[in-house]
Amino acid sequence: MKNLNKNSKTPNHVAIIMDGNGRWAQARRRPRLFGHRAGAARIREILESCPKLGVKYLTVFAFSTENWKRTQAEVAGLMSLFEKYIRKEAANLKDNGVRVRFIGDRIRLEDKLVDLMDDLELMTQDNDLVHLTVAINYGGRDEVARATRRLARDVELKKLSAKDVNEETLPKYLDTHVLPDPDLVIRTSGEARISNFLLWQSAYSEYEFIDTLWPDFTSEVFAKVVASYSQRSRRFGGASV
Ligand code: IPE
Ligand code: IPE
Ligand code: MG
Repeated sequence: MKNLNKNSKTPNHVAIIMDGNGRWAQARRRPRLFGHRAGAARIREILESCPKLGVKYLTVFAFSTENWKRTQAEVAGLMSLFEKYIRKEAANLKDNGVRVRFIGDRIRLEDKLVDLMDDLELMTQDNDLVHLTVAINYGGRDEVARATRRLARDVELKKLSAKDVNEETLPKYLDTHVLPDPDLVIRTSGEARISNFLLWQSAYSEYEFIDTLWPDFTSEVFAKVVASYSQRSRRFGGASV
């Protein structure tokens, strides 16, 4: 779905690469998981500030298809943190008008986590104040490959003809098919790379790379970044004057 609000000065959809939890913990001589816990606690504050900032869609990168390369202890700790987070936040999300969705490949996730994800999606499906999308075991390349596989199957089944594969039909197969493209992508922790996040969807997004480590990313910092978006001139390939 295209963002209908192309020239609006408020980003309708903000996507965040929540990076820097490990370094935040290291600076405090604590284990990496301590940083991940502090990072998870940040999401609520950012989410709650969305309605007043005019941000309707918030998408956060929680675990990439490449993050399995980390130690077994860190991966297990993160997976258990996702479970705890869903259990703890579910009622609050439901009561506060948040519609939650998950993107990424669920195949590698444990059944009990997938059940919690499914339940939370179902529980919040009638909400419409803010749309929170959490990317778990998500990789942009993996998403495009999975989408292409499903699309190819539809061609085989003659549900779709090869000549109809284009920029409108392909994204219908992506995990994000019901979401608008992100207007603004923020990455915390000073790294200026996208690490396989929303490759297709962010083709024309504005990027903001900030030095703040994710556990230090307050709603004040968020408000500043969102405000700076209004100064940008998005041209989508057109001419400004
Ligand atoms: C981001 O923080 C969270 C995940 C990738 C799961 P990191 O864990 O990447 O923190 P740094 O980059 O090592 O500081
Ligand atoms: C990107 O951060 C993924 C998430 C924030 C979940 P990484 O820390 O995994 O990215 P790289 O390894 O620095 O590129
Ligand atoms: Mg990192």
